[in-house]
Amino acid sequence: MTINVLIVGSGGREHAMAAKIKQSPLCSRLYVAPGNAGTKAIAENLDIDVLDFEHIGKVCIEKEITLLVVGPEVPLAAGIRDYFEADSNLQHIKIIGPGKVGAQLESSKDFSKNLMKKYNIPTAASKTFTTDTLQEGIEYVKRHTLPVVLKADGLAAGKGVVIAETHQQAVEVLTDMIAQKKFGEASKKVVVEEYLQGIELSVFILSDGQSYILLPEAKDYKRIGEGDTGPNTGGMGAVSPVPFATPEFLQKVKHKIIEPTLHALRSEGIAYSGFIFFGLMNVNGEPFVIEYNARMGDPETEVVWPRIESDALEMLVACAEKKLNDYTLKISPQTATTVMLVAEGYPGDYKKGYEISGLEQVEDVLVFHAGTKQDGNKIVTNGGRVLALTAFGETIEKAIQKSNAAAQRIHWSGRYYRKDIAFDLIKLTNIP
Ligand code: AMP
Ligand code: GLY
Repeated sequence: MTINVLIVGSGGREHAMAAKIKQSPLCSRLYVAPGNAGTKAIAENLDIDVLDFEHIGKVCIEKEITLLVVGPEVPLAAGIRDYFEADSNLQHIKIIGPGKVGAQLESSKDFSKNLMKKYNIPTAASKTFTTDTLQEGIEYVKRHTLPVVLKADGLAAGKGVVIAETHQQAVEVLTDMIAQKKFGEASKKVVVEEYLQGIELSVFILSDGQSYILLPEAKDYKRIGEGDTGPNTGGMGAVSPVPFATPEFLQKVKHKIIEPTLHALRSEGIAYSGFIFFGLMNVNGEPFVIEYNARMGDPETEVVWPRIESDALEMLVACAEKKLNDYTLKISPQTATTVMLVAEGYPGDYKKGYEISGLEQVEDVLVFHAGTKQDGNKIVTNGGRVLALTAFGETIEKAIQKSNAAAQRIHWSGRYYRKDIAFDLIKLTNIP
């Protein structure tokens, strides 16, 4: 039996998922809402806002969609799953993504820190402050070891974390977030935590509420500048696999982090069906949770999903039917790298609408669209992160060289990319 699938979202992550799902013989019609110029070429884009659940529900019925894959965190945190489950006309539709309560793993840092503390999941020691305890918070950060990490409790589009280097800065940031409501509702509560020194990686699972499968891990490059400098972005590139994620290290991740997290969710009565993204710090070979996300990462998906050799739609259906316990995922042993081409000014203010040229000249890469739009017969920029160029290689060097060669061929006014994605790992693996 074939099925109609709707992917909610419009980034490189959703294009990468769409490309894989499209290859499945189980896929009849594929829709993306709202999608981008890349998804338009392989699926039907539906011009619907990701928070317009009523409209999403209506098209699911009209178009006989039976599987809904939710890409970004915002509709998950707003309860898209709860909306579908509460409507008898929509209850038959299977959803990949947790309900509002489960999505708090990402949408409330206070919730996730409490869960980790209660179930002894390794993470940085922390304390949460609110308007009522601001004064106490100020005294606390003044005495905290430096640097000290301050995190807005709620969703802040990746901007809610500040690593303060001085006590004065920490006091200012805490006051700004709580008293001045820097991130609105999201910073009514602030988590203050110790700084973990180590190397980061992203680990992903798909959980059906009972069992789970481990997806390939990845490393994301968050800073705008080469050599990991400048402000944080949504991600400037990624690589998978990660050489320091050895079988021994991943075993620790499973036993100390993944399984205790799933146990914690079950013990709290939270049925969790969907992806969990574990943002981890490897501190001298020991994994610590920096954050949870209730979805796949972007741009990590652009390297993780292309490495999936199994039928990705079959995997999602197995998840929806709670059959992941006898599901085995086949993964390519190749290395995948992706380089993100971004707009001038990103992650600050940037302009949109520039015509993109050179798309037809790239070879040996998968081009995933992030912020693009079809404008007549032109493809124009429509976001800060614009295109992700994914390449495969037997080594990191070979893959990144292809991603970078393709990046050079694509142009628009002000396009920028980091030329050093994954170079730190090449250095690491070259150490005898
Ligand atoms: P988050 O939004 O929680 O992923 O945080 C953004 C970035 O801040 C992370 O990717 C880390 O690089 C950094 N970060 C967050 N928490 C910590 C921590 N406790 N120690 C060191 N770095 C951190
Ligand atoms: N690449 C980090 C994220 O998706 O949050």
